[in-house]
Amino acid sequence: MNKGQMNVQNLTVQMKDKVILKDISFAVEAGETIAILGPSGSGKSTLIRTLAGLQKKTDGDILVNGQSTNEKELLKIGTLLFQNFNLFKNLKVLENVASPAWLSGQLKKEEALERASDLLDYFHLSGQKSVFPAALSGGQQQRVAIARAIMSDAPILFFDEPTSALDRENWENLLNYLSESPALKERTKVFVTHEVEFAKRVANRSITIQDGRIVKDEKQG
Ligand SMILES: Nc1ncnc2c1ncn2[C@@H]1O[C@H](COP(=O)(O)OP(=O)(O)O)[C@@H](O)[C@H]1O
Ligand SMILES: [Mg+2]
Repeated sequence: MNKGQMNVQNLTVQMKDKVILKDISFAVEAGETIAILGPSGSGKSTLIRTLAGLQKKTDGDILVNGQSTNEKELLKIGTLLFQNFNLFKNLKVLENVASPAWLSGQLKKEEALERASDLLDYFHLSGQKSVFPAALSGGQQQRVAIARAIMSDAPILFFDEPTSALDRENWENLLNYLSESPALKERTKVFVTHEVEFAKRVANRSITIQDGRIVKDEKQG
């Protein structure tokens, strides 16, 4: 599969007796980029984790290319950049970025290392390739995690707060990459952010959630 049209229908997620997401419905076209906005605690991470197959839904359906999916299938269709980065502590930066692509069989090891190295150069991490994540600042760790997510050839890319630790220069650099990269053009991208400016620049459509419900779904110019 290489297209990622997603149709979320009446999605509800409950944890213990707390309803976190309630009756969420929206569709994302293949190749579209959308932003999900909302205050802290509104359910953005829970939503993106559920769409990426990392959180069980309580009710509703998530269709991809018209087919109903379960969590295992969603895990294969999407790749998630975690809000807390989730880097492999025991792997050096270059291997952090390259290893998912070769372990999954997406690329040969040499190809994966070469592509990872290029991405790290783009994200201003040329000097950090052979250090362990613990030696990096928050912004550097976030850029490693971004490079790792971008390495994946999954049809749908999910990014949870990708700019939270970035300075302005790296913020602009990420936007440049996202708008210019041919490898990302055809793919569906979903960005969770609480930065309205980032949402406007990265996507032409934004969905706002509050208390686990969609309160706004609008095109933006
Ligand atoms: N594992 C969990 N168990 C119980 N409640 C959770 C869990 N994860 C998140 N929540 C609750 O769900 C709500 C939404 O959280 P989250 O999706 O992280 O929001 P956001 O990403 O918008 O800040 C919050 O009230 C949070 O406390
Ligand atoms: Mg969150």
